[in-house]
Amino acid sequence: MSPVRHAIPPERWPTAAEAGASRLFSPLTLRSGLLLKDRTWVPAMVPWRATGDGVVTPALLEWYRRFASGRPGTLVVEATGVRDVPSGPLLRVGHDRFVPGLSSLVAAVAEASAGETRLVLQILDFLAIRRRPERGRYLREFLALTPRHRERMAALRPGLDVADDRTLREALSACSEAELAEVLDERERRDLDFGARELVTDVHRPDVARLPQTLPPLFAAAAERARRAGFDGVEIHAAHAYTLASFLSRRNDRDDGFGGGLEQRLRVPLAVLAAVRERVGPDFTVGVRFLAEEGIAGGNELADALVIGERLARAGADYLSLSRGGKFEDARQPRVGEAAYPYTGPSGRLCMPSVFDSEPPFGTALRHAAAVRAAVRAAGHTTPVVATGGINGFGLAERALAEGLADLIGAARQSLADPDWFRKLREGRGSEVVRCEYTNYCEALDQQHREVTCKLWDRLFTAGDRASLSADGRRRLTAPAEGWSPRRHSTR
Ligand SMILES: Cc1cc2nc3c(=O)[nH]c(=O)nc-3n(C[C@H](O)[C@H](O)[C@H](O)COP(=O)(O)O)c2cc1C
Ligand code: SF4
Repeated sequence: MSPVRHAIPPERWPTAAEAGASRLFSPLTLRSGLLLKDRTWVPAMVPWRATGDGVVTPALLEWYRRFASGRPGTLVVEATGVRDVPSGPLLRVGHDRFVPGLSSLVAAVAEASAGETRLVLQILDFLAIRRRPERGRYLREFLALTPRHRERMAALRPGLDVADDRTLREALSACSEAELAEVLDERERRDLDFGARELVTDVHRPDVARLPQTLPPLFAAAAERARRAGFDGVEIHAAHAYTLASFLSRRNDRDDGFGGGLEQRLRVPLAVLAAVRERVGPDFTVGVRFLAEEGIAGGNELADALVIGERLARAGADYLSLSRGGKFEDARQPRVGEAAYPYTGPSGRLCMPSVFDSEPPFGTALRHAAAVRAAVRAAGHTTPVVATGGINGFGLAERALAEGLADLIGAARQSLADPDWFRKLREGRGSEVVRCEYTNYCEALDQQHREVTCKLWDRLFTAGDRASLSADGRRRLTAPAEGWSPRRHSTR
């Protein structure tokens, strides 16, 4: 395991009076008219608690209730699929049958926060990805044979009956690695090594070619369902490894008017935003999450994000939430039978910076948020910007607001480590905050699609504790009730 390179910085916590007078705990009204009681924000985190059909479960309600009891100004519900297609245990909003479950989530958060926390649903589309295949199976079954394979194999194995598919596949599976390198093209090699993955540039596939037409109504319908379920808003997920981010990417070289230059790459996300807005009206919050930089070779840089932010603001986004990285392109090779995970490579470290990185993870993305915010402001828009990434203390949050680096303060893992932390700050009980260690145990669980928990509390139990447990029966699924401390509780 890598060494921990950075200590959690000490913090001077505010008194209740200081917190009450702070920028962090001052209100903000979005363009939609939505009043946020303060600038505290819990960004989307997938906890892997939905059913295999994407439906809200009691464990999911508990998860959000626990965050809501800390009374953040805004809580963003995890990435939720807009299509009505099997998506594993990803939460879904692609059909009216998902509305009752989502309404119960809204009710749970309203009750636990006494109506103080605004609730936003993050809505996403993603393209198909397959698990890494076993080599023999890939060559015998999955590889689509082309004239190129026949030509190359004819050269490598003179006399082989390359017209016969079965013979050809058997010969392919008997090839050495060096021979295979001559036969497979770059895409086929990647499909074999990482699992096949659909790209927005696969315009030879009719469904991918039609995405510019199919995505806007899908997102609009999802947003309308979220509104019906009682959410305060939706967040269009145009970040990380998913479809809208892929349209925005410099690596999108579609030549049908939806790729190439940034104006073309922006067309689909802007069409989605317009369709959503048209469906839900001006008084429902519609934010967009996108990348301040992709962190991959040939990907978007901060310069792209400045333009993207300004265009989204001009198009009427109620807020802009920034993230970084989280791409498939540099993901670690998965084991056979597993799917690639977009947070395992260098771009993944940008997304969820840790104490193992060379740079300290604390407030690491504030510089990017500041640049996007400045570009948006320079163009005359007041659209608030949410900064996220290692923000773990009052001083850092307050400085970011005072210096105009951001308007809203996102804290994902710190809120997972201690869901009450914002409330403790507000009440002048900062010394009771349990501080995230940024060692990414939670992220490793997410990677395996296992129920996400925090290492600081998932083995802590009090006498008579009725905590719900993970599938393996060993970990509690939500933080203990307020007043716990990693040092004072017993472990089992
Ligand atoms: C377990 C886990 C799940 C996440 N799921 C999502 C998600 O569904 N959508 C999203 O935009 N970001 C997701 N993220 C990224 C966070 O929203 C956030 O950007 C990142 O953790 C960095 O912020 P932090 O340093 O405050 O944790 C997830 C992060 C974690 C740790
Ligand atoms: S497991 Fe807990 S302490 Fe570790 S990074 Fe995740 S939230 Fe922070």
